[in-house]
Amino acid sequence: MALRTIEEVRAVFPRGGVGLVPTMGALHAGHIALFEAARRENDVVVASIFVNPAQFGASEDFERYPRDEKGDAAVAEAAGVDYLFVPAVEEMYPESYDTWVEVEALSASLEGDARPGHFRGVATVCLKLFNIVGPARAYFGQKDAQQAAVVERMVEDLNLDLEIRIVPTVRDEDGLAVSSRNAYLSAEDRAAALALPQALRAGEEAHGRGADPVEAARAILGAEPGLEPEYVELVRLDGRVYLLAAARAGRTRLIDNVVLEGDPL
Ligand code: PAJ
Repeated sequence: MALRTIEEVRAVFPRGGVGLVPTMGALHAGHIALFEAARRENDVVVASIFVNPAQFGASEDFERYPRDEKGDAAVAEAAGVDYLFVPAVEEMYPESYDTWVEVEALSASLEGDARPGHFRGVATVCLKLFNIVGPARAYFGQKDAQQAAVVERMVEDLNLDLEIRIVPTVRDEDGLAVSSRNAYLSAEDRAAALALPQALRAGEEAHGRGADPVEAARAILGAEPGLEPEYVELVRLDGRVYLLAAARAGRTRLIDNVVLEGDPL
């Protein structure tokens, strides 16, 4: 087909293409930051809302994960999302479904160790979403740094033609990283959960004065009786060094991280 005007060319090949923000819904300020980044950098913004059963373990919260499609639609629209993709489970995983993507070494440690099969489910659903929507860019939060690194590894290894953009963690005023799962926290759990960002800040501070960031973070976590620490580790992901931590407040698992400047590894 011959294109004869600039307008026609622009209509056929939109300038910035499509930006995709994959989510599981229960949208909050963290998701909104991703939508806004996508809005700035793309002509068309698509957000997916899909509570992906493949990334939940048998004893995890798939059934009770917060779902609010109507509320989410309003939040997404206000943040400039053009289209929501909200598939049913059978649409994504029909009965005959049999193909899985495994990013091996990166998926084995930290979150992958605590949640076997989790990143296989994440990588698979993200690849499916990329193939369905065909975005030029896809947006992920630093909050889930290991997840972002797994997706970046997959994009590079499988030669996918899109750019992964990572958006800094959005926090509540008290420092707690915003998360859909924060809705599970009792007032008491929430107060205890604050030790997690505090521990990471202490780690950052220790690193700044040449002390051991892991030790400093562990000391803060250990002093909070309402929190059960799982791991505190320094890890290099996508060229930056992260101090990553996971802890449990009551039944709720929380993760958070900070980037350490310089190269402590
Ligand atoms: P979900 O937990 O809904 O998160 C969707 C995206 O929002 C992820 O990229 C996550 O890192 C980002 N995000 C969450 N909290 C954030 C915060 N406080 N600041 C910045 N970004 C934040 O992560 C998933 O869904 C799923 O695993 C998914 C990638 C959609 C695959 O099913």
